Amino acid sequence: MEIRVEKEVENVDLVAGKIVAEQLKKKPASAFIFPTGQTPLGLYANLVSLFKKGKIDFKNAQIFNLDEYYPIKHQNPASYFYYMKKNLIDQINIRLENWHIPNGKAASPQKEAEKYEKEIKQVGKFDLAVLGLGPGTTCHIGFNEPPSSLDSVARYMSLSRQTLKVNSTLFTNPQDIPTGALTMGIADIFRAKKVVLIAKGRHKALGVKIALTGPISETAPASFLRLHPNVTFLLDQEAASDLPI
Ligand code: GLP
Repeated sequence: MEIRVEKEVENVDLVAGKIVAEQLKKKPASAFIFPTGQTPLGLYANLVSLFKKGKIDFKNAQIFNLDEYYPIKHQNPASYFYYMKKNLIDQINIRLENWHIPNGKAASPQKEAEKYEKEIKQVGKFDLAVLGLGPGTTCHIGFNEPPSSLDSVARYMSLSRQTLKVNSTLFTNPQDIPTGALTMGIADIFRAKKVVLIAKGRHKALGVKIALTGPISETAPASFLRLHPNVTFLLDQEAASDLPI
């Protein structure tokens, strides 16, 4: 496992962009797992800029999103569907049929999760998973809230109180946040040959510390990443500030 700490937060975004760009150059038909949230906005801005300069090409790539609120409409600006379209999908040349995200407006969350799991199994292996880290002590990855097991697959999850509190600020009316979500499981994330978890800011320091130095446990889903053979924690100095390094 690699822990990479960048002094400047902008460098975290640059390094993350470089990792994705290199993967695409090495294998144009790469399959990616991508996150949402505030953390990867800089990464997506860098990818869009590299694409506009003609330096990267998503024509043959596949993107799988980690998660989506449930229930939620696509046109809700707080939905991950809307976020991805705005910040990445509509600005690059990925084929729409190669972009996968759980459908927040599906009639049955269970059936939608099963359908997503099938799509994941069809890909088999992902080349690269980029992850964020949930708020506070949740240590969630995707929406795998504690407790989530190592063998978990795509499913509906109720959101934790900490997540609801933090994430509701991104909704026009905070009380409109859905109380659940559809997420890939930990076993799905482990289908990726390489995993990069990005965490930035002082508010992530406790979660980073628990994930990296606490027990490997269902109560801290990100701690399972320590069992993955090729994982990088890409942090800014603030997110790393509680680590004994
Ligand atoms: C959200 C998402 C995660 C994301 C994380 C961090 O709840 N479900 O996929 O990585 O929390 O969000 P942020 O980057 O805004 O801190």
